[in-house]
Amino acid sequence: MKRIGLLTSGGDCQALNATMRGVVKGLSHNIDDLEVYGFMNGYKGLIYGDYRMLTAKDFSGILTRGGTILGTSRQPFKLMRTPDANGLDKVEAMKQNYHKLNLDCLVILGGNGTQKTANLLREEGLNIIHLPKTIDNDIWGTDMTFGFYSAVNIATEAIDCIHTTASSHNRVFIVEVMGHKVGWLTLYAGIASGADVILIPEIPYNIDKVVEAIERRKRNGSGFTILAVAEGAISKEDAQLGKKELKKKMEEDKKLYPSVSYKVAKEIEDRTGMEIRVTVPGHTQRGGSPCPYDRVLSTRLGSAAAKLILNDEYGYMVGLVNGKTKKVPLEECAGKLKVVTPDAQEIKDAKRIGISFGD
Ligand code: F6P
Repeated sequence: MKRIGLLTSGGDCQALNATMRGVVKGLSHNIDDLEVYGFMNGYKGLIYGDYRMLTAKDFSGILTRGGTILGTSRQPFKLMRTPDANGLDKVEAMKQNYHKLNLDCLVILGGNGTQKTANLLREEGLNIIHLPKTIDNDIWGTDMTFGFYSAVNIATEAIDCIHTTASSHNRVFIVEVMGHKVGWLTLYAGIASGADVILIPEIPYNIDKVVEAIERRKRNGSGFTILAVAEGAISKEDAQLGKKELKKKMEEDKKLYPSVSYKVAKEIEDRTGMEIRVTVPGHTQRGGSPCPYDRVLSTRLGSAAAKLILNDEYGYMVGLVNGKTKKVPLEECAGKLKVVTPDAQEIKDAKRIGISFGD
């Protein structure tokens, strides 16, 4: 007999349901007696005792369904120790609800912030398994997060579509790609779609180099240029500012531009007189059905999590390392970000074929 809790927290992505299905199927095929409690809307459900008892039937037919059957919300880690508006101690409330249901463990699906709270609950004595979700692929300790490749597909398709219209009109286009503070999504979608310039936060850009890349293409007979710009991209000058000055600069920029791509567009326009178009696919990148790769990854991670639960092994994130599922102690990975290193093989390969990173 096992009693498990499930929750999905933070921004959603395409393969949350597929992952929960993997966990529940992995358990129900190996034990006769399983009770599953789904906490609604992320940590909120655990804090306020909003849960539903689920059966194996609830997990049937959801492999391909995007979003999350449990709903989600953002509950910032830094506020977890702060009582709510009614003075409720959130951490104590989560512990009480866990113990009230007499759970053997809580399986938490989420990104970096979610993982920090998962680790906090582990430190508070709860049995926790974390599964790494995010389109950003920025979780330390796993080569891949589920959601990433589905988002790469969508961002790639968006840039593909821009490619055809940009080439008909001989225009310079910027497509802004999600990814929060890291550049994995932009890097992969940019390479996959044949972008000419890729700007990511880990390689602060020099606008003159970006302009140079556009002009070089023009000289070589290509009238159009595609730039894949990460939402967290930053200029060389800004990257050199101190923390306080940078915050101020960001606030000023926010008043001037809807997002970084518009700033890059204006900088190019000022230097070249060209008219630059900006496209922001935004949350479409997190929507729709998971791609086949994510369906496989999620099934494997869910199944590996089930194995840990059957063995009563808790306090781990289940990741993918060198093609194999691996349990990574939460205390080791919580709070660490996996960024693109400027000397990453992908960057070197991309540069060799002429893609500019604006550096
Ligand atoms: O972490 C996933 C992500 O989609 C990021 O890429 C993006 O910066 C952020 O979430 C958007 O958050 P929200 O859904 O709160 O607008």
